[in-house]
Amino acid sequence: MPYRILDLVTGQSRRQYSLANPIRPLWSGTRGATLRRMALPDLGRAVRHAWRLDPDFITVNHGSFGATPNCVLAGQDVWRHRMEEQPTRFMATVLPNALREAASRLAAFLGARGEDIAFVSNATSGCNAVLRSLSLRPGDEVLVLDHGYGAVRSTVRFVTERAGALMTEATIPFPDVTADGIAGAISAALGPRTRVAVIDHITSASALIMPMDRIIAACHDVGVPVLVDGAHGPGQVTVELNNLGADWYAGNCHKWLCAPKGCGFLWTAAERQKDTHPTVISHGLGQGYLQEFDWTGTIDPSAFLSIGAAIEFHEHLGGASMRQRNIELAAEAASLVARRLNTETVSGDSNGAMRLVRLPVSQSIAPGPLRARLLQAGTDAPVHAIGGGLWLRLSAFAYNELDDYARVADIVARVLRE
Ligand SMILES: Cc1ncc(COP(=O)(O)O)c(C=O)c1O
Repeated sequence: MPYRILDLVTGQSRRQYSLANPIRPLWSGTRGATLRRMALPDLGRAVRHAWRLDPDFITVNHGSFGATPNCVLAGQDVWRHRMEEQPTRFMATVLPNALREAASRLAAFLGARGEDIAFVSNATSGCNAVLRSLSLRPGDEVLVLDHGYGAVRSTVRFVTERAGALMTEATIPFPDVTADGIAGAISAALGPRTRVAVIDHITSASALIMPMDRIIAACHDVGVPVLVDGAHGPGQVTVELNNLGADWYAGNCHKWLCAPKGCGFLWTAAERQKDTHPTVISHGLGQGYLQEFDWTGTIDPSAFLSIGAAIEFHEHLGGASMRQRNIELAAEAASLVARRLNTETVSGDSNGAMRLVRLPVSQSIAPGPLRARLLQAGTDAPVHAIGGGLWLRLSAFAYNELDDYARVADIVARVLRE
């Protein structure tokens, strides 16, 4: 009875969830015993009502902004209620512990220590904090990927130009992507003046999972610390931060973990914390990593505090098995759409729950207007020009099923004919 489980958490969350103690998991309590992990075949259309998704729109772009389910939004609402009941008491006496409790919950999910995790609004903010904390000198280099996310590349450009340093670039082989090719390209781009490498865990436009173990080992071999832009990692693939060995990992919970928007984090290795500061400096300056990050001025922290609810929802959907199901669905979806359009996908072992399909058009066609036409026609998928081709990025999440992509293929074919 998959509906019962989600209806229960959606419809009754307020009653279950004590205002006096919102740290309790969203669906624990007297009815907790009736909740059980859903069987995988119940995903897809059967769980879609747990979100507010427009039923007339085919959502196959979870990667851009995620989608927050009703039960997590209800949990966030409870935090807001509690904050507004007595704002001063909340900020002074409830928030500090609640924030640390949320960080510990996230740390347990990410194989990390709570004290290494600070909340930030999003991955862009986390990367900014690290990059703007660097003390670069003229001639120093910061390495990025040519497939790196635009906003983070802009931040690197900003900090390097200001210091008379250089932004250098590793060229990812595409579309013939192999782990050897990626690791080789990054090793070749490291130089004696490279101060930091900024590596996307999963690239945005090209949706490639980087072989992080090999990249981090290659960088550390030559003494270069690594900032991982993990905007797409948590909830899409399994992330084990203590084992990864990065120096910093900036991630999002509002994409693949379905937390409310504005829930990101920065994980910092213990030895890097002293020199890592939030972009907004506040009262805690000089008092340590957590003191500095946990208070950066008055904000609404309810998205951070909802992380426990988001993780519970993720686990109820199947956790690791749901992530694997999404990856397999994305592969099937891309093959289906490529077959219908008579084109190709990006193959290899670098793929997650987002996959590219080449569009059967010349690359001189502008991606922006094409995407706008898809939106008008009832679906959304990013379109990017990469390596001489125009590529459509399809995401697969718990609420998707193969039929969504058959309908997307029809829409794309129609839009391209027009
Ligand atoms: C690789 C990568 N980094 C950073 C971001 C930025 O995420 P946010 O806007 O949540 O900071 C994205 C967004 O899609 C991304 O794909």
